[in-house]
Amino acid sequence: MCGIVGYIGQDNAAPILLNGLKRLEYRGYDSAGMATLQKDGSILATRRVGKVANLAAALPSNKEDAGLGISHTRWATHGGVTEPNTHPHSSDDGIIHIVHNGVIENYQQLKVSLSAKGIAFHNETDSEVLSNLIAYTLKKLAEPISEKTVLKAIRQSLVQVEGTYGLAIICSKCPGSLFGARKGSPLILGIGKNEMMLASDASAVRARTKEVVYLEDSQIVALSGENFSITTLEEAEVIPEISTISWKDEEAQLGDFEHFMLKEINEQPLALENAFRGRLNMSEGTCKFGGLNLSRKNIRQIDRILIVACGTAWHSGLVGEYLIEKYSRIPVEVEYASEFRYRNAPMDKNTLVIVISQSGETIDTLEAQREAQRKGYHVIGIINNVGSTIARENDGGIYQHSGPEIGVASTKAFTSQLLILSMLSVYLGRTRDLSYADGCQMVEAIRTLPKLVEQTLELGEEIQSIAKAYAKNKDFLFLGRLEMFPIALEGALKLKEISYIHAEGYPAAEMKHGPIALISEDCPSIVIVPDDETLKKNLSSVQEVRARKGKVIIITDSYDIPAHLADEIITVPKSHNCVRPILMTIPLQLLSYYIAVELGRDVDKPRNLAKSVTVE
Ligand code: F6R
Repeated sequence: MCGIVGYIGQDNAAPILLNGLKRLEYRGYDSAGMATLQKDGSILATRRVGKVANLAAALPSNKEDAGLGISHTRWATHGGVTEPNTHPHSSDDGIIHIVHNGVIENYQQLKVSLSAKGIAFHNETDSEVLSNLIAYTLKKLAEPISEKTVLKAIRQSLVQVEGTYGLAIICSKCPGSLFGARKGSPLILGIGKNEMMLASDASAVRARTKEVVYLEDSQIVALSGENFSITTLEEAEVIPEISTISWKDEEAQLGDFEHFMLKEINEQPLALENAFRGRLNMSEGTCKFGGLNLSRKNIRQIDRILIVACGTAWHSGLVGEYLIEKYSRIPVEVEYASEFRYRNAPMDKNTLVIVISQSGETIDTLEAQREAQRKGYHVIGIINNVGSTIARENDGGIYQHSGPEIGVASTKAFTSQLLILSMLSVYLGRTRDLSYADGCQMVEAIRTLPKLVEQTLELGEEIQSIAKAYAKNKDFLFLGRLEMFPIALEGALKLKEISYIHAEGYPAAEMKHGPIALISEDCPSIVIVPDDETLKKNLSSVQEVRARKGKVIIITDSYDIPAHLADEIITVPKSHNCVRPILMTIPLQLLSYYIAVELGRDVDKPRNLAKSVTVE
């Protein structure tokens, strides 16, 4: 949700900023811009609508700048996708230049007050108010411009601001400094050799340094090439905690794959192995987690679990509900984070809250976590992005270790969340009522899962040809029962997101209560039919679809489905119920991927979306 990159150092800033922006493009790709300090002391700003490639083409080639600059890739909130609305935004007097990620809620009020002082505004964004507010405050200070006075102006401005921001700021009259500030939107500081960077996430600085500081809310940073200082809005000095980024730069490269989504689908055997590595206790038939901060006694006392998440992560939470209730016998509820945060749901004092987030930065999930913590609940996270805000702020958690997920549509992070929830259900179950024998079976199923996933991925070509045959349909229904219902929801979401085809997920039996009206020759149904106690019931749903001339694609692990019942049958390997949702997901990922490719969609950057949703 908007990516920002800033650089100060001895090298030419523009190519470093551009490289950083390319890594952040998944955060938004409506438009991109850059402002760099030139050797003659002027600021060169370039803005282009569309992807970072458009900005790259517009930048002057072979021009050395003075090693200071800020840049931005935008996901539009306030104001249309136009060049004037593209960041960086400059103050009316041309002194202050900012890039902003977040939303300024009181921007209208600030704009009116600054306009009354004769300051002109040149675009429709909420962000422009920040450059003008800082420039106006700086002028009002009437002190010689230095790093100290700019910091003072930034501080005095930000205390007037309501909303969220990750900010990088330069001042043309203070060419030796780069400034940053954060509240609600992520910002990290990269510490290089005689250079410093600011960015929305670590992927943008990884090519230059592995040493980073994750800034906290209400902190302001001033950087020179060699030094940095962090203070709070209240002027307190902050002792920085320097972290080392663990993943390698190559993990974020496409390699031989055409799209990140396909690469990430194929990375699932390894991502799943990384999720369970070191966490299986074969001899006791259980799982172990280092960072939950819950004693066995605490676990016995839990009488309810509330899972809070958004989008795909919410779907994994729904699967978690089935698994935890079945294997741990603890009642579970799953809420959209955005709903939880604004309602006052009654919660028992022994409720455990679990938040799930790939990015660890989704603002709705972060605020839901804060709300639960404010009320005194123990919140654990299932998070992929190490060092992200949600991971840093929760009371304990489980890292997914899936590696960077670049494709906007979540794939490997989803299946890894499913696996962790399955492991959690074993762990909670074995600390309460699950038998040793059942625990052993589940742990063995988890250990052997990557092999089954590899076999499932071999269905790629078969699914590609099915995708070609069905890509022209305008509507799809996805049906499943029990754990497969959330998988149906996820299948529908994947198809919608990257193909822009209307799709709905339903519990299979619910179809006859309304959606059946959609069924026709032009609305295929994808029915997930596990080889379990629901098989016959699912096949009844299939019959109901076929009786209305609907095409049917069955995804199953049963070898006994009569061929005449479906137009296509995709068979995945048999597995234990605790990992089966993962195997059923893979054909759905491949189907939506190949349909999107067939339709010529921008698979990794589907329209209107962004990977990390840091606005409400
Ligand atoms: C869909 C997708 C989104 C995210 C949602 C939450 O493919 O990726 O629905 O799942 O925005 O994101 P995280 O998990 O980062 O909190």
